[in-house]
Amino acid sequence: MAGNSVTWLLLCLTCCLTISLSASLATSSTMRTYIIQMDHSKRPQSFTEHFEWYSSTVESVLAKPETEDDDTVEEAADRIIYSYGTAFHGFAAQLREEEAERLKEDHGVVALYPETVYQLHTTRSPMFLGLEPESGISVWADDIFDHDVVVGVLDTGVWPESPSFNDTGMAPIPKNWRGACETGRGFSKRNCNRKIVGARIFYRGYEATSGKINEQEEYKSPRDQDGHGTHTAATAAGSPVPGASLLGYAGGTARGMALKARVAVYKVCWAGGCFSSDILSAIDRAVADGVNVLSISLGGGVSSYYRDSLSIATFGAMEMGLFVSCSAGNGGPDSFSLTNVSPWITTVGASTMDRDFPATVKLGNGKLLSGVSLYKGRRNLSTDKQYPLVYMGSNSSNLDPTSLCLEGTLDPHTVAGKIVICDRGISPRVQKGQVVKDAGGLGMILANTAANGEELVADSHLLPTVAIGETSAKSIKHYTQTNPHPNATLAFLGTKVGIRPSPVVAAFSSRGPNLLTPEIFKPDVVAPGVNILAAWTGDVGPSTLSTDRRRVKFNILSGTSMSCPHVSGVAALLKAKHPDWSPAAIKSALMTTAYVHDNTQKPIIDASTGAPSNCFDHGAGHINPSKALDPGLIYDMGVQDYFEFLCTQKLTPMQLKVFTKSSNRSCQHILASPGDLNYPAISAVLPDQPSNRVFTLHRTVTNVGTPVSKYHARVSRFTGASVTVKPQALTFTKKYQKLSFKITFTTKSQQSKPEFGGLTWTDGVHRVTSPIVITWLPKI
Ligand SMILES: *[C@@H]1O[C@H](CO)[C@@H](O)[C@H](O)[C@H]1NC(C)=O
Ligand SMILES: *[C@@H]1O[C@H](CO)[C@@H](O)[C@H](O)[C@H]1NC(C)=O
Ligand SMILES: *[C@@H]1O[C@H](CO)[C@@H](O)[C@H](O)[C@H]1NC(C)=O
Ligand SMILES: *[C@@H]1O[C@H](CO)[C@@H](O)[C@H](O)[C@H]1NC(C)=O
Ligand SMILES: *[C@@H]1O[C@H](CO)[C@@H](O)[C@H](O)[C@H]1NC(C)=O
Repeated sequence: MAGNSVTWLLLCLTCCLTISLSASLATSSTMRTYIIQMDHSKRPQSFTEHFEWYSSTVESVLAKPETEDDDTVEEAADRIIYSYGTAFHGFAAQLREEEAERLKEDHGVVALYPETVYQLHTTRSPMFLGLEPESGISVWADDIFDHDVVVGVLDTGVWPESPSFNDTGMAPIPKNWRGACETGRGFSKRNCNRKIVGARIFYRGYEATSGKINEQEEYKSPRDQDGHGTHTAATAAGSPVPGASLLGYAGGTARGMALKARVAVYKVCWAGGCFSSDILSAIDRAVADGVNVLSISLGGGVSSYYRDSLSIATFGAMEMGLFVSCSAGNGGPDSFSLTNVSPWITTVGASTMDRDFPATVKLGNGKLLSGVSLYKGRRNLSTDKQYPLVYMGSNSSNLDPTSLCLEGTLDPHTVAGKIVICDRGISPRVQKGQVVKDAGGLGMILANTAANGEELVADSHLLPTVAIGETSAKSIKHYTQTNPHPNATLAFLGTKVGIRPSPVVAAFSSRGPNLLTPEIFKPDVVAPGVNILAAWTGDVGPSTLSTDRRRVKFNILSGTSMSCPHVSGVAALLKAKHPDWSPAAIKSALMTTAYVHDNTQKPIIDASTGAPSNCFDHGAGHINPSKALDPGLIYDMGVQDYFEFLCTQKLTPMQLKVFTKSSNRSCQHILASPGDLNYPAISAVLPDQPSNRVFTLHRTVTNVGTPVSKYHARVSRFTGASVTVKPQALTFTKKYQKLSFKITFTTKSQQSKPEFGGLTWTDGVHRVTSPIVITWLPKI
């Protein structure tokens, strides 16, 4: 599970940091990277350039030697690893703690915070198959003139030889594009083309903390060793590749969402993680380069608007008109597990598609249980023979290292020649397969526990493996523990499409409510993020294990990392179709047209419980690209609206300054509450005061549909409150006309749990739906 691998990575990083700390403690306190935000309006006249001013500021806090000389000047300049200028104003520098403390006092400094490490949001579940075009997106999207839109992807780089980046037939690069093709080992100018229009690397923050990149082991160039960046870039805007067939598995066309949009690659993630100073520099660059849509499949920053560099930099990007989509995180199914919750970001959760890879486990007692698998290898288990089955866990409700098949825990005497049941969790799924294989096991049954419920993600294991849900797992374990000679066999049935129900919210997809601001509804939407096929690096096998010698052009991954670029690509299409739409308008179109019913016409279910999902799981619902193109009405917002939202967040003037930069923006206090932000979703947090039973929120819609039209409101019923909309009808007489309405909540009986529902405006053609969640603050 991703959450676990992230934890392990963090643990590892912590211990590496501890080691380097204690090594240099003898001299003086260790240097670390700080990001320093500067107020450009405070720059003294004597400096003609920002950089000069920055280094002089740093110089003023360095411990000065007895005799003043040029060395300190030089050292100060050397300490600065980045200078930022578009999305963010300031710099990143290597400082000792006491220097950082002194720097904080400088009157030009707005904020100062230490470097943080972000992680990619993949669940590392590669497998292989052929892809059908995404349902409903292939036909109409081809007519959109999307070649002037550039999608910037912050990730691990790109494998340029992938056929997904073939630029045959593409129009010349837009004239206003200011990006560059940076070169390095394994990446030359000719690796950029009309599809990959930009490729840059950001490593100074990473190197400042982790030491020089070993260029023998890692490409210090835009080339993608990991595969994640190639996959996300191709998902957003890859060219169509017909007959994408993998190791003989099912064929189909692999394609990105915005076929002709351009890709600009910003490599910010390295073997040891993605560093905030590098991310900040990449976003800053992307804005200057002329990127239109930013796709960011990573997270893990501080839960704060003004200290999370992703939140700050994306505010700057939004200010410059960029649409930003980010992965919600893979911390599900726990509540409050969301990351990237700033309202100017589109936060994307993950759901399944209608495609599956069935496989079965047949027990010695004749019982047949179904699961999934993408195993395909030379060693197939024959179905007419039974193989001994073993489960090393003593108690299926208690996980232990052996039942999890962690490295070094399996005794070859016990498992050789057998099918081994391994519980999901802690270690990567493919690694469990490797552990079983190394111990001489014949096959593996990968068993879900309560954490994953019935959600099945298949991987390209190196030995025959079937992944099964929690219920089947319990039944198999029971059979195994109650039989003296338990037997089983595994069978692999290929690819199946038309799976019902789908979509289903992935168990791993991070859940609301939004801990930072409950009035801002998150996640925003869900999009396909389970078993996604897209381009892959030529550097590692599909399982990502070093022992995997296979090389594939396409791979299957799962994670909110995969759902995010689906939304980025669709946003690129919307931007191409409606160049004048603001980032908020694009987001509104995606949210108000999203659907919440699956292909059996029932509410979308949650894989972790099997029960209907709610807005904390799926947000406004599953994206519906063709409907988003013509949403009828939009809930628009500008930079000042988002700023006014921040004004409701009890930030100090200095903390607000982080967002205003050198502009004269100030709080006009036009929002009565954060819930009054003109968000396309409505979260009413009702106060617990018997005297205060009536609560009102405000919204304004802009007509982007038929110029003369009349919309009627329909709002769902709630148990705890009556909800009314005023006026009940909105009559538009022209395009872009704005009309406002009020939503009034009158508490009838306070509920202990949140209630969910929705508001729909309809003119008979368009349906503009906002989810509503009502939360009652607990009695104190
Ligand atoms: C790129 O696509 C064109 C047409 O679809 C095809 O003829 C050509 O062989 C492809 N090039 C590569 C390198 O795959
Ligand atoms: C398992 O298979 C072995 C060998 O084929 C057989 O002797 C044994 O009876 C089987 N056990 C069960 C429970 O089917
Ligand atoms: C593996 O065995 C199953 C059952 O006999 C069969 O249907 C399948 O085609 C085999 N797969 C391969 C790759 O040989
Ligand atoms: C397994 O563990 C659970 C919880 O610790 C306990 O309630 C149950 O009795 C145990 N079962 C066995 C068979 O030991
Ligand atoms: C902010 O500055 C702009 C021009 O730079 C000016 O047009 C605007 O009126 C100013 N706003 C306030 C609130 O001072």
